[in-house]
Amino acid sequence: MSTNLISLLLLLSTTATATAITTTAPSDITALKAIKSSINPSTILSYTCLHSWDFTSDPCKPPHVTHFLCGLSCSGNRVTQLTFDTAGYSGTLPSLVSQLTQLITIDLSDNKFHGPIPNSLFSLPNLQTLILGSNSFSGVIPLAISNLKKLQTLDISHNSMSGSLPNSLTQLTELTRLDLSFNKLTGPIPNLPKHLIQLALKGNLLSGYLQKQAFTDSTQLEVVELSENSLAGTIPGWFFITPSLQQVNLANNSFTGVEILNPVNKHSNLVAVNLGFNKLAGYLPANFSAYPMLAALTLSYNKLIGRIPWEYSKLSRVFLDGNFLIGLPPKEFFSRRISISGSLGDNCLKSCPVSSELCLKSQKPWSICQKAYRGKLKPNF
Ligand SMILES: *[C@@H]1O[C@H](CO)[C@@H](O)[C@H](O)[C@H]1NC(C)=O
Ligand SMILES: *[C@@H]1O[C@H](CO)[C@@H](O)[C@H](O)[C@H]1NC(C)=O
Repeated sequence: MSTNLISLLLLLSTTATATAITTTAPSDITALKAIKSSINPSTILSYTCLHSWDFTSDPCKPPHVTHFLCGLSCSGNRVTQLTFDTAGYSGTLPSLVSQLTQLITIDLSDNKFHGPIPNSLFSLPNLQTLILGSNSFSGVIPLAISNLKKLQTLDISHNSMSGSLPNSLTQLTELTRLDLSFNKLTGPIPNLPKHLIQLALKGNLLSGYLQKQAFTDSTQLEVVELSENSLAGTIPGWFFITPSLQQVNLANNSFTGVEILNPVNKHSNLVAVNLGFNKLAGYLPANFSAYPMLAALTLSYNKLIGRIPWEYSKLSRVFLDGNFLIGLPPKEFFSRRISISGSLGDNCLKSCPVSSELCLKSQKPWSICQKAYRGKLKPNF
């Protein structure tokens, strides 16, 4: 047989089977085929969802006994979810994905997708959940992301996204969870969307100060994770007064100071604050303890000086190690009635009782302490 004839026969047979059982919208089928063929076949192992994608049967038409067992779901004749298994699929995402206009959920996390996220994906009008975490996607997050008007969850953490964050995020009025941690994002924190509850931008190259304007509209923020960046300046007092704020992690940046506004909001929900591994100088902010719900405070490895305020014994986890704190630690820390965990080690404290877990790490040598206080430390500090 000539090759022409073979291809004609193949064409006829596929068209015949397709027309016999097709219910899925043809444009969706085209998109699904493009998606599968952009994945390296050697990474589609026999037990995986994508292996069961066999286009001799209809993707949306039940029952799915042998074909299209998983990896997608439909509503009627349209694909509404792409939820891949963690199978190590390696490939790119083709721009034809945008033909799946009824998609509500995309979750391709924990695979080996690489290359840019196609711009067309940011035009899907019904998308609510976009999870591409733990892949190797690169490129910038485009301004056009603001077209995803229904987006509630955006997670592109643990990829190689670069460039600065688009200043159109405020237009994502439904967005409650934003996780872009562990990428290579640069520049400042842009203005944030109004209904954001969780913000995670850990492990990037973000720089600049915490600008009030960026946080003004996000009055529902509960969790802010900005650790391991290059943010600088004083952590301003307004930052902690967002009414719903519960957890703040600003560790491993270059902050030089922290401000606590008075009086503290008695209705604050602030529970945990981590400001470790910065360049905070000066005295410990005693008024942190005025936050009624605060339980955990980490100020480890900064350049803090002076005494430990007794008020800190109201907290249940206190990490103050790696500073230049002096004097006797407040005796409340070692009371049998209250149990505080944490560390006071690697400071310049006088008689930190070694019987306490808080004092396991030893104190700094006298000479280093003396140097930090420019020789003004009295032997009886
Ligand atoms: C900050 O950096 C230190 C030292 O590299 C590391 O031990 C710690 O886990 C980091 N903390 C956070 C919250 O990033
Ligand atoms: C701490 O709070 C008290 C009472 O609200 C206030 O008088 C004092 O100035 C505050 N201290 C600091 C260092 O902000």
